[in-house]
Amino acid sequence: MSVNVETRVDAPGSAEFAAEAWELKERIREREGVLKQRRAFFVDAYRRATDHLLYEGDDLVGFASVRRDGYILFLAVAPERRGEGYGKRLVAAALQDHDSISCHARASNEGALSFYDHLGFETLRRINGYYEDGGDAYYLRLGDGASLREKFAEFFRRSVTGP
Ligand SMILES: CC(C)(COP(=O)(O)OP(=O)(O)OC[C@H]1O[C@@H](n2cnc3c(N)ncnc32)[C@H](O)[C@@H]1OP(=O)(O)O)[C@@H](O)C(=O)NCCC(=O)NCCS
Repeated sequence: MSVNVETRVDAPGSAEFAAEAWELKERIREREGVLKQRRAFFVDAYRRATDHLLYEGDDLVGFASVRRDGYILFLAVAPERRGEGYGKRLVAAALQDHDSISCHARASNEGALSFYDHLGFETLRRINGYYEDGGDAYYLRLGDGASLREKFAEFFRRSVTGP
């Protein structure tokens, strides 16, 4: 992991970094056909959520928007920064505030499904036609706070002490 990563947070009601998060989301949508939420939905959901953002200098390299019930609305890592632990770090940030977290992932999004499976998320159900474009989703959950804290313990220590 890069030593120059800074974590910023937009608390509920704040959208200081929303424009940059939207730009990253749109870049990923154009390239990969995922994260297709429309702007009005995105901006409203982003503002209500706790948004964890990772910056390398002035560059946003990833973010996660987490609802107050622990549901991950958006999770995105810049394509050129994948595989460096940023996605896991964002999930760990969500876990610091919630015992259990959940999300939907597109059934065709094999990368995200493998990532969530790797981190220990359970598939609770498949929902046909979940997305506006007719796409199916899986509903996933990472639960059991105590054992998770243990699993992510080393990570938390690293997050807290920082680089
Ligand atoms: C899914 C996503 C957030 C993963 O981010 P990332 O920063 O590349 O993931 P990490 O580097 O933190 O990976 C964490 C672990 O998951 C594993 N992993 C990540 N992507 C994986 C994949 N496609 N297949 C298998 N394992 C994967 C890593 O090997 C790593 O394992 P380790 O902890 O044993 O080393 C990123 O690929 C992304 O932004 N995708 C596009 C947007 C998206 O689909 N978001 C989810 C919408 S539901």
